Amino acid sequence: MAELAIGDIAVEALTETQARAELARLAELLAGANLAYHTEDAPEISDAAYDALKRRNAAIEARFPELKREDSPSEQVGAPLAEGFAKVRHAVRMMSLGNAFDAEEVRDFDARIRRYLGLADDAPLAFTAEPKIDGLSLSLRYEGGVLVQAATRGDGAEGENVTANARTIADIPERLDGAPEVLEVRGEVYMSHADFAALNTRQEAQGGKRFANPRNAAAGSLRQLDAEITRSRPLKFFAYAWGALSAPLAETQMGAIERLHALGFETNPLTVLCDGPQEMLAHYARIEEQRATLGYDIDGVVYKVNDLALQARLGFRSTTPRWAIAHKFPAELAWTRLESIDIQVGRTGALSPVARLTPVTVGGVVVSNATLHNEDYIAGRDARGEVIRPDPEGHPKDIRLGDWVQVYRAGDVIPKVADVDLSKRPEDARPYTFPAICPECGSEAIREEGDAVRRCTGGLICPAQAVEKLKHFVSRAAFDIEGLGAKQVEQFYRDGWIKEPADIFTLKARYGSGMQQLKNREGWGEKSAANLFDAIDERRRIALGRVIFALGIRHVGEVVANDLARHYLRWDTLIAAVDTARPAAARHRRAEAAVEAERKAAASEDRRARIKETRDAVWADDPQVPPEARAAWDDLVGVDGIGTTVAVALVTSFGQEAERASIDRLVAHLDIQEAERPATEGSPVAGKTVVFTGSLEKMTRAEAKARAEALGAKVSGSVSKKTDIVVAGPGAGSKETKARELGVEIMDEDAWLALIGA
Ligand code: IVH
Repeated sequence: MAELAIGDIAVEALTETQARAELARLAELLAGANLAYHTEDAPEISDAAYDALKRRNAAIEARFPELKREDSPSEQVGAPLAEGFAKVRHAVRMMSLGNAFDAEEVRDFDARIRRYLGLADDAPLAFTAEPKIDGLSLSLRYEGGVLVQAATRGDGAEGENVTANARTIADIPERLDGAPEVLEVRGEVYMSHADFAALNTRQEAQGGKRFANPRNAAAGSLRQLDAEITRSRPLKFFAYAWGALSAPLAETQMGAIERLHALGFETNPLTVLCDGPQEMLAHYARIEEQRATLGYDIDGVVYKVNDLALQARLGFRSTTPRWAIAHKFPAELAWTRLESIDIQVGRTGALSPVARLTPVTVGGVVVSNATLHNEDYIAGRDARGEVIRPDPEGHPKDIRLGDWVQVYRAGDVIPKVADVDLSKRPEDARPYTFPAICPECGSEAIREEGDAVRRCTGGLICPAQAVEKLKHFVSRAAFDIEGLGAKQVEQFYRDGWIKEPADIFTLKARYGSGMQQLKNREGWGEKSAANLFDAIDERRRIALGRVIFALGIRHVGEVVANDLARHYLRWDTLIAAVDTARPAAARHRRAEAAVEAERKAAASEDRRARIKETRDAVWADDPQVPPEARAAWDDLVGVDGIGTTVAVALVTSFGQEAERASIDRLVAHLDIQEAERPATEGSPVAGKTVVFTGSLEKMTRAEAKARAEALGAKVSGSVSKKTDIVVAGPGAGSKETKARELGVEIMDEDAWLALIGA
């Protein structure tokens, strides 16, 4: 009988020597697959095959724990970023787009813009509509009409220098005639379906890897260290936007696109001008109809305000323009079997159900895991108890083990289980019981009123939460300590060396010398240990936004953290503001609980007014909320990008005794840098505190506030000794009087606009 290959021997049958060899083989295979997936844009094996290898590795490790390798794949989370391209800082940030998923959200987009600009419902407001190309964005810088630099988007602020590669793309002109002195053209690099198929055939014939889809192929081809490889790959480019400019291209979006076309760029022929949502939606339908025959992948339609002066007034939120939106096509679907449900515990203690599926291809990608969101979702209801998957009688269709389920994938989002086919339900299927106990630490897992998610109450005693918090703490947008990645913090946590973030900063004192030393640990040496201690020391001095993000507070992502940093500038100020606002947060919760009943009441004409009345009544009836608490609360929820949900999360987090103590211990080791106000060179109002009162006639409140903040001013809701300017419109009342009493400068809207040069 032929000898079995080692990979075919069952785990239980492996000898120790065979197990050692098999662990080495699996480590190599999985490392290769990781690298291909994360840095070469080409998954080499299916998700299912990958998972099977990982499971086999884990099973062998469980049988022979002493053979577990230092580079064990069970400890690997991802692969390092591709090295080799120089970094390029974009002169103007490369933004992403907000999304709309249905007609309603497109109409909301139009309404939001009108509200922001103070335009009447019937005032003309035109938009361009064009396909959203599913490729990767590229910024091309021309100086004196000559291409001098090409950079990928990267994180939006900094990308990779791929100039040599971009020069090999036929659609990218090397020289331009009659262009502004400085012109950054932005657009999408993509690969056509025909070219993608031919490339994969060629790759296969040459024993190279196949690409999963045209986007991966385009990304992999552009990011080649050898530009000659890029040259051999048929890449294309559509121009649709711009960055830095020494002179405007046109007065409208459409005009600018036409100008780019005249300069020699390919622009998408399906770009049209629409006079409002109705025409936008009609064009969306036309593009969707042609989608299959276009010959390249698109994943939606992008709408942009046509008037560039209005675009400038609308400006940007942290990472997306207010004047554009992507209307995405519905997601791709497939049916498969639900094999099991795993519960993962996240850093905020959330118990997340994950569906393990019989692998299935959805839109060209193999899917074997998908999210099931939360227990209500499994039961077929939303957080308010409404049925989200009705059967023909209107009862909710729940999801059970063994069910035939529909998997849904949209763009880059995590696939989810969307629907269930009751006709294929196994007879013995029983409703799924969501665990009430944390599978990681055994603590009770509870659902708070109004929370869709069941959470482990173990806090930092729950190893899953503690480790996830630590991993988040050292992640790229947080402390990003070189040599201290997810894998290392997990090991340090397991060995009790690091239990909370503050411990990272005492690691050297505890393990730099003495009996137990880092340099003597397996996998570490004198040099790597010294490097780690240095890298940690370097991060003691750290930007405020990073610290706020690193704390892993619910609802406080990178964008919110930076918004908070820009608003409060200093750690002490932020903490003091949140502490001061605490009594008002409690009041907010009570008021919202009271209005919940109103909200549930059947829709009626005066429901809105009743909700407002109820809310006002709860706020008014309390002598215990000091005015400074109310002011701090109003200021907090008024920060651009922050609402009551974030505010409540901050107050809760900073108010929990154990968590606060842990934060305080951390902060004691840090030198937190004061945040910079937005670039406000030459701004006459940078650093000034401004209050708008009365009605404004040339702009809305939201626009006035956003523009003042963009110029480095702090906008406040109440007048105090700290106020520098009060902009008073008609009907200004007590705030203007108070400003007069305090001798604060008062001006009208026109004077304000003149001051800021608008
Ligand atoms: S406009 C400031 N137009 O979509 C707005 N983007 O999800 C800049 N994309 O990063 C983007 N087709 O890579 C724009 N016609 C189009 C697009 C498009 C594809 C990509 C682009 C962007 C991403 C945002």
